[in-house]
Amino acid sequence: MFEKAEFVISSPSLEKCPELTGAEIAFIGRSNVGKSSLINMLAGQKKLAKTSGVPGKTQLINHFKIDEQWYLVDLPGYGFAKSSKKNRKAWAQMIEDYLGLRDNLTIVFVLVDSRLPPQKIDLEFIEWCGENAIPFALVFTKADKQSVNKGQQNIAKFKKVMLQSWEALPPIFLTSAESGYGREELSRYIEGILEN
Ligand code: GTP
Ligand code: MG
Repeated sequence: MFEKAEFVISSPSLEKCPELTGAEIAFIGRSNVGKSSLINMLAGQKKLAKTSGVPGKTQLINHFKIDEQWYLVDLPGYGFAKSSKKNRKAWAQMIEDYLGLRDNLTIVFVLVDSRLPPQKIDLEFIEWCGENAIPFALVFTKADKQSVNKGQQNIAKFKKVMLQSWEALPPIFLTSAESGYGREELSRYIEGILEN
């Protein structure tokens, strides 16, 4: 598991992001899905990334340096109902630039709420990743909020919908930032990516 985690910087745009010094693994998904909480769970530090019960907490690109070598990157979420049109446009620009153009980005984890049946907004975002050849894996969150079986059922539904337009499925994980469920599996997957 990861030994050291420290906050580096919050950046309002790709241009302002830190110099490229190590592999980056980013977290995206609907606002309030649990991106910042998952980063804290993986890093083993409850207060590393700021979390909130109110959607729209993370507004910038946040770099966290892990073991002085590579980065976990917390991104602002999509589908935040209260944000203005102007803000949504700014978000799209920031995210498209970062995900599309950041040379050191190895993979983006797209987080999906494991309590919900497949949502259009998530499927559309995943479609966009595909169109732009951005490597991604799916992480279903908040597994503790219902039985693991129920979470697996929603994942099965999600896979079924994806297979209508995708030939192959991405890696898929079920996690809980609350209970730590799925932490080892996801950490091992990340370690595997970093070794390559
Ligand atoms: P934005 O930054 O607003 O896009 O949200 P986010 O995706 O970073 O979500 P965040 O980590 O701030 O979590 C949102 C809320 O969900 C907080 O109240 C968290 O405590 C809660 N939460 C996140 N993950 C879990 C989980 O695995 N289980 C439970 N029960 N609650 C969770
Ligand atoms: Mg956040």
